[in-house]
Amino acid sequence: MKTEQLKCANEAVTRDAGKINPRYRLGYHIMAPANWINDPNGLVQYKGDYHVFYQHHPYSTKWGPMHWGHVKSHDLVHWKHLPIALAPDTPADCDGCFSGSAVVDGNELNLIYTGNLFDDEEKTEVDQVQNRAFSTDGIHFQKDPLNPVIPKHPECGSGDFRDPKVWKHGHDWYLVAGTSHDKVGKVVLYRSPDLRHWTYAGIIGQSEGNQGYMWECPDFYELDGKYVLMCSPQGIEAEGDRYQNLYQTGYFVGDFDYATGKFTHGGFTELDNGHNFYAVQSFKDDRGRRIAIGWMNMWESPMPEQQDGWAGALTLPRELHLSEKGKMRMTPVDELKQLRVKRMLTLSSVEVSGTQAFPDLTDELLEIEATFDLIASNADTFGLKLRTGKTEETVIRYDVRERQLILDRSKSGQGVDDGFRRALLPESNQLKLHIYLDRSSVEVFADDGETVMTSRIYPTEENNGVQLFADDGQVSVKEMSAWRLEDIWA
Ligand code: FRU
Repeated sequence: MKTEQLKCANEAVTRDAGKINPRYRLGYHIMAPANWINDPNGLVQYKGDYHVFYQHHPYSTKWGPMHWGHVKSHDLVHWKHLPIALAPDTPADCDGCFSGSAVVDGNELNLIYTGNLFDDEEKTEVDQVQNRAFSTDGIHFQKDPLNPVIPKHPECGSGDFRDPKVWKHGHDWYLVAGTSHDKVGKVVLYRSPDLRHWTYAGIIGQSEGNQGYMWECPDFYELDGKYVLMCSPQGIEAEGDRYQNLYQTGYFVGDFDYATGKFTHGGFTELDNGHNFYAVQSFKDDRGRRIAIGWMNMWESPMPEQQDGWAGALTLPRELHLSEKGKMRMTPVDELKQLRVKRMLTLSSVEVSGTQAFPDLTDELLEIEATFDLIASNADTFGLKLRTGKTEETVIRYDVRERQLILDRSKSGQGVDDGFRRALLPESNQLKLHIYLDRSSVEVFADDGETVMTSRIYPTEENNGVQLFADDGQVSVKEMSAWRLEDIWA
């Protein structure tokens, strides 16, 4: 274990944390103390705590040689920063400790992650391997002297071979990783008796022509009687309102046979319809819940917080379920109710036409729940405006005829004038919105998580209003509540 690189990395983050401009810092989302983060890694429960790691460049607000940053929590709500867990300091990971997962084996917390190795001087070609690190205190990790534990990609793949997700079934460990061959993205399966010796066990899924050239960050698990493959494909072309972001994150639902390693599944569905959601990972906790967290950004999209000394954050933890129709539902975990500091608003049975403002609702950290009666409404469009003021607004609008939920951030502040995202909702007599607003993010859970939209926003302080609105008619609001939320980092 070379501690020098870890020590330097930790010192850099501590030093830079003192220089941050706080204006966009989130109040209840996971972020690094300073500098760059991307994917969530190693979601796990160990010795009573929830642990989350993340891809981290401790020296800059831009992506660079990857380390693993680390936070832990008792309750999935209040997070505490721990020292950086992994630095790229061995021959098996010298160009970066890329994404991976965590599993507990007896007393030991294991991190299984990708060692990024460049194959050429220009650093354009990669030859990625899989590694193991372990710990018995959940803070300090040793790298396995056997590393790399998977030294070469399978024949059906290429040097783009990364993001191992590990789980146990029966006596064996299983691992899925993303790879690519001749511009076809895929997910491959491995099996191991001991987390150190791995045997290739086939292809779990691959692009059918138009589903991307590389599949990143796969995750595979049983949920509500079916099997789910989640992954983040690169290279899916936009198609109407679908696949509007640079890269996608979505899932396939199907059946899996451990004996043959065959996964029979339906089509690919996007998991979140907002601007900023990628590289999601899940884990099962001791209450049997499947919980997922994503990266609340997108490659090559604006990150105005870079001027302020940091970049990137993770989404709220979301509980996953499959609906009867096999659609994934994501709902904020129950524990998040602990964030409620003060109830700011209670409304029931009101009709709104035009605009209704709430002058007392000016908090930067807010949770809002609203249920609209679609039978008793005749407006063409209605919804909520957040962070509204003289110059800015973030609009959550429902287009009744088109049944489209629209998250419009064209006036959401600095750097994000790239318009709206739309999602088609199923037919229903009501619309339920559950919204988490943070200083520079909004997460919208519609109809108990059937549709979710996550986006970063960068409003200025004075644009701090909340409004209900209805255009060309009235909307019937059955109920609406709002709470001021706690700033867990304050
Ligand atoms: C996804 C990803 C992973 C990789 C990591 C590198 O966002 O590209 O495939 O392991 O980020 O930081």
